[in-house]
Amino acid sequence: MSDTSKQPETFSFDAEYAAAAEKIIARYPEGRQASAVMPLLDLAQRQFGGWLPTAAMNHVADVLDMPAIRVYEVASFYTMYNLEPVGEHFVQVCTTTPCALRNCAAVLKACREELGIDIGETTSDNKFTLQEVECLGACVNAPMMQIGDDYYEDLNAETTKSILQELRNGGTPEPGPQSDRNGSEPAGGLTSLKTGTGG
Ligand code: FES
Repeated sequence: MSDTSKQPETFSFDAEYAAAAEKIIARYPEGRQASAVMPLLDLAQRQFGGWLPTAAMNHVADVLDMPAIRVYEVASFYTMYNLEPVGEHFVQVCTTTPCALRNCAAVLKACREELGIDIGETTSDNKFTLQEVECLGACVNAPMMQIGDDYYEDLNAETTKSILQELRNGGTPEPGPQSDRNGSEPAGGLTSLKTGTGG
């Protein structure tokens, strides 16, 4: 249920976000500005601090001259939009099949233990929200989680906890693969192309 006590009466883009919205709208042909709904919702969410109150969705509908219900439909369909407040660090753990095969269960358990919350909950200091999500498109470096805009990949329980601890202490953990493999090479080392062609 939406916490109506946190819903602001009004919302509108500030000068910086309005300029960014204008640039995005200009990418689409005249009369097709509704196509900009997704990036504009993203802008509104960023300006508001990580979630979309109804007033923000209404503002996007006004800017794009489209029915508010169509904006709500988009915002409620995609998990990248939050319709409830989230903590400062929004932790999204992927649990789709490739991540599951690479033990995302250990990652989720580490998050629960380190943060002391369950899926869908926010820590009492408002620092972390934990969410379980479907494939985030980084299966080659499974298991992985997204925190804010950053991807943390090739995780295990230990690296997961250390990333969360660093964030809690105000640090900025290095995003990307947390193992020593190069990019998405096989985790156990190369299995082909191990020798030069001699050419
Ligand atoms: S299954 Fe986890 S990123 Fe694709």
